Amino acid sequence: MTDERTDAAAATVGAGSADGGATPHPFIRPYRPADRDDVSVICLRTAAGGGDATGLYSDDALMPEVFALPYLEYAPDLAFVVDGGDGRALGYVIGVADTRAFVEWWKREWAPGFRRRHPAPGPPTGREPGFTEAQLIDAGANPDRMLIAEVDAYPAHLHIDLLPQLQGRGMGRRLIDTLRAALAERGVPAVHLGMDAANTAARAFYDRLGFHELPSSRADAPLLGVATS
Ligand SMILES: CC(C)(COP(=O)(O)OP(=O)(O)OC[C@H]1O[C@@H](n2cnc3c(N)ncnc32)[C@H](O)[C@@H]1OP(=O)(O)O)[C@@H](O)C(=O)NCCC(=O)NCCS
Repeated sequence: MTDERTDAAAATVGAGSADGGATPHPFIRPYRPADRDDVSVICLRTAAGGGDATGLYSDDALMPEVFALPYLEYAPDLAFVVDGGDGRALGYVIGVADTRAFVEWWKREWAPGFRRRHPAPGPPTGREPGFTEAQLIDAGANPDRMLIAEVDAYPAHLHIDLLPQLQGRGMGRRLIDTLRAALAERGVPAVHLGMDAANTAARAFYDRLGFHELPSSRADAPLLGVATS
């Protein structure tokens, strides 16, 4: 992998941006192993309906261990980050091309260690999240939850998160375009995602990008999909 800027990556954002120019030239590049901790932090800081989930659960490692790190381990070639210009990752899109194969890998390679590290929910934090710690631990231990009814027509799935200073600057659209192109190159026809129904900003973003609701989507557990090309 190289850090050479692709067409999408070459798109930079000028002054007058949401962070007052503190991140003037973000660009997209492939994930590299040194980004792992940054990805964990971004995941945690955007995991509460799009906002900061720090301290929401008894262990801040839980969210990344369920929604980010397995993806980096299984499919680092389908992970892309937004580099703030100093080598640090400030946002990412991660995905897998074949959700069925990923579930089998997760059962074999990820779930045993996860269960050992997180055998049961820890002490209450006093925050009482809607997605409880027991549900989060179950999600890490039992990947069959990813086998949605439409998994064969939409075999890939993704997660995307940007730190607040990068939001609303077009990088989310570019990250999705980058992943869709990478999936299309591999012959994957369509990609899906599940999301928190309370995250109305993310829903507006996906609607704008042309994602549609899948037949098994529920109001309390939206499932969206889109073709890769
Ligand atoms: C949701 C998220 C990925 C969107 O990325 P982004 O960089 O902020 O979005 P962009 O600036 O690329 O917006 C792309 C398009 O969506 C539209 N859009 C984005 N957010 C919107 C909103 N809240 N309401 C209406 N339209 C919106 C933009 O206007 C833009 O339209 P255009 O390209 O036609 O001009 C990002 O804000 C984020 O990471 N949020 C926090 C974490 C999160 O919620 N992740 C998703 C979990 S399911």
